[in-house]
Amino acid sequence: MRRSSSALWPDAPGRAGPASRQKARAIRVLLIEDDEEDFSILEAILSEVSSARYELTWAQTYDRGLEELCRGGYDVCFLDYRLGPKSGLDLLSRVAKSATAPPIIVLTGQGDYRVDLKAMEYGAADYIVKDEVSAPLLERAIRYAIDRLKSQRALRESESQLKHLATALLKVQENERRKVAAELHDDFGQFLAAMKFHIESVLERMEPGDPCAPDLRELIPGLQGAIERVRNMYTELMPSVLDDLGILATLRWFCREFQEEHPHIAVQFEFGISEQAIAHDLKLVIFRIVQDAFKNVAGHSGASQIKLSLSARDDSLSLAVRDNGKGFDIVRALASTSSHNGLGLMSMKRRAELSGGSFTVESAETRGTSVCVRWHIESRQP
Ligand SMILES: Nc1ncnc2c1ncn2[C@@H]1O[C@H](COP(=O)(O)OP(=O)(O)O)[C@@H](O)[C@H]1O
Ligand SMILES: [Mg+2]
Repeated sequence: MRRSSSALWPDAPGRAGPASRQKARAIRVLLIEDDEEDFSILEAILSEVSSARYELTWAQTYDRGLEELCRGGYDVCFLDYRLGPKSGLDLLSRVAKSATAPPIIVLTGQGDYRVDLKAMEYGAADYIVKDEVSAPLLERAIRYAIDRLKSQRALRESESQLKHLATALLKVQENERRKVAAELHDDFGQFLAAMKFHIESVLERMEPGDPCAPDLRELIPGLQGAIERVRNMYTELMPSVLDDLGILATLRWFCREFQEEHPHIAVQFEFGISEQAIAHDLKLVIFRIVQDAFKNVAGHSGASQIKLSLSARDDSLSLAVRDNGKGFDIVRALASTSSHNGLGLMSMKRRAELSGGSFTVESAETRGTSVCVRWHIESRQP
């Protein structure tokens, strides 16, 4: 490492001067470097930085470096690309992506674009050629690396909050559905059935030729239709048939209903799996994803065909809903800046992931859309 000629670099304008530097906590820097001379040079260059204080710890070997990184407590780490017979990149790949690792800046003897790329791929915060090191360069690299890590952590935190929110939302939605379904079934459904029964018994007791009988009789089909409509509504909200008849029968029923409601879309389904092979807790998940996917096909795709398949192969269970509609731009539809943000795709994804599955959507204009979920059977079953 060449001594920089920047020993007299002035503080950059607007940076903290020596007085405030006293107050700020020292930035803890770990240097993993097998060459003692390079360590001394880096130490000297860091001491030239007047806008920050550094507390430098030196780890001279790969193993010591790994130990220190695992112990934690560093704000930033400089890592030599060559550590005796071992590679710094190997160490980098072992630690950089862990949630507690500090930002790691790779130091190398010569500029090598491929090493730079590899370092980035393995999660390095930056890449610095030793010969180019100077106090301002180090100060800046450290500041940016720490700041970037802070932003990444904040982003991770808000992503995890979003996941929690989405999960809570699904639970609330499921509870509300359960409540509305129970009310539809116990109150409204019962009331309609009682009314129909009552009218039928009045009709039975009427004298033949009673002039009111035809009017009353006319009410029966309407009531029957309303009873069926309510039954479909509560079954869609909370499919008790899932427990009684199973997911395959429920999906067949759902496809029939969908076909009746959307006669212009030809519905096909294919189940290459037995009821017993589907874990109980997956059944509601599958039903909800199918509901959301079918709703999107009906509402957005303009498709003339929809195919539902549920199959088991090797160690996985796959669900797919494919349509031949107009397709859509997935990135745009999911962008938070989109003027309209639906919940369908997000809740399908969340449901799939919460149940241990992986969710994919493929869509291309004029080639339709496929929504697929895959679960590993072995890892899910006791
Ligand atoms: N099968 C599909 N065919 C065409 N466009 C679709 C399909 N599924 C989803 N989309 C597009 O993705 C958007 C987001 O879908 P979704 O998250 O379910 O929300 P919503 O249905 O409430 O709009 C839709 O508005 C639509 O533009
Ligand atoms: Mg939708």
